[in-house]
Amino acid sequence: MAACLGFLGYHYLLAVSLSLVIVLVHGDIHSFNTGHEVVKENEVSSCDFFQGSWVLDDSFNPLYDSSSCPFIGGGFDCQKNGRPDKDYLKYRWQPNGCDLPRFNGNDFLEKYKGKKILFVGDSLSNNMWRSLICMLHATVPNSNYTFGAKGLLSTFSLSDFGVSVNWLKNGFLIDMAYEKIGKVLKLDSISTGNQWLGVDVLIFNSYHWWTHSGRWQTWDYFQFGNKTVKEMDHMEAYKIAMTTWANWVDKNIDPSKTLVFFQGVAAVHLDAKEWNDPNHKDCTEQTEPVKGSTYPGPGVPGEAILKSVLSNMTKPAYLLDITLLTQLRKDGHPSVYAGRGPKFTDCSHWCLAGVPDTWNQLLYAALLQK
Ligand SMILES: *[C@@H]1O[C@H](CO)[C@@H](O)[C@H](O)[C@H]1NC(C)=O
Ligand SMILES: *[C@@H]1O[C@H](CO)[C@@H](O)[C@H](O)[C@H]1NC(C)=O
Ligand SMILES: *[C@@H]1O[C@H](CO)[C@@H](O)[C@H](O)[C@H]1NC(C)=O
Repeated sequence: MAACLGFLGYHYLLAVSLSLVIVLVHGDIHSFNTGHEVVKENEVSSCDFFQGSWVLDDSFNPLYDSSSCPFIGGGFDCQKNGRPDKDYLKYRWQPNGCDLPRFNGNDFLEKYKGKKILFVGDSLSNNMWRSLICMLHATVPNSNYTFGAKGLLSTFSLSDFGVSVNWLKNGFLIDMAYEKIGKVLKLDSISTGNQWLGVDVLIFNSYHWWTHSGRWQTWDYFQFGNKTVKEMDHMEAYKIAMTTWANWVDKNIDPSKTLVFFQGVAAVHLDAKEWNDPNHKDCTEQTEPVKGSTYPGPGVPGEAILKSVLSNMTKPAYLLDITLLTQLRKDGHPSVYAGRGPKFTDCSHWCLAGVPDTWNQLLYAALLQK
């Protein structure tokens, strides 16, 4: 594991000041198969995986067949829920300067034998977690696995490999307390962090719950320092909370034992005007991505906040910067195929198989850099 962990030595990260470009640490040159051509690792190592575009590639197959993955869950199983189009399964993320290595599940299981991987975050963590366990199950379909949930913790493990990949549901990362006045978000407090200790790879995520208001809002008050307020700018609250999280990681994580990732902000497609489509309201009936490498709509406010917070950390946290690649995938959501009837539209989560498989390929690519 030490070798795998070394690549994120924080002096290297500081050296590139978190430019999110994967750096070549040891100068080794290995080749590996990307699924359509062999690339040199040093080419990949200097590449920014997060700038690129989606290309339709008929030779590209999803990493698993959704009908043979037992873990997808109703809301993400678009084919089962009757989605008629299939092109969305054939888009491959093409970084501008290199190719993304194709996920090699056997290699992953070999390297992560006996290791624990934990996703901590909201339902987009759930989306990514289910994608990864489908990818692993498809690698070793005949291996014994356990799959279950208890309270907020959902678990998957492959006993033959001693690998566990779990998801701990936690929308805010900081504390929410049930007090007399109501539900209070304690922006400068994390009391459940002990649940995040003792694992080899942590993949955090928090954003979407902060954007909620009105009847979607799941809290009553914000509290920080000695102040309790009913309302404040939600992005300001997000910044304080993520800083609290960053300080927790800086204080509690030993980077020689645990790799820390942050799953970046995933875009939503609630307004078709963003991509200049006058004929639709939202992501409904979208069957292809936005072309090119730029999204015509507005930016996602949380993205800059997150980058700023991460760049100020003293311990490394690697941002899986999925904002652009998700912005471009207006076709990747369940839309009316979320399994809750034709009136229920989901333009926030993602079909499986689908876009989260690419997030896990990015995770794999980062883990490959030893
Ligand atoms: C799978 O696990 C069960 C229960 O632990 C065990 O009885 C069985 O022998 C295992 N099968 C294989 C192929 O390892
Ligand atoms: C709240 O904190 C501010 C700044 O730290 C301080 O000036 C003030 O006295 C505190 N108020 C209370 C009620 O503790
Ligand atoms: C990060 O540090 C810079 C420079 O000290 C500061 O300007 C910025 O506000 C910090 N960002 C956050 C989110 O605290």
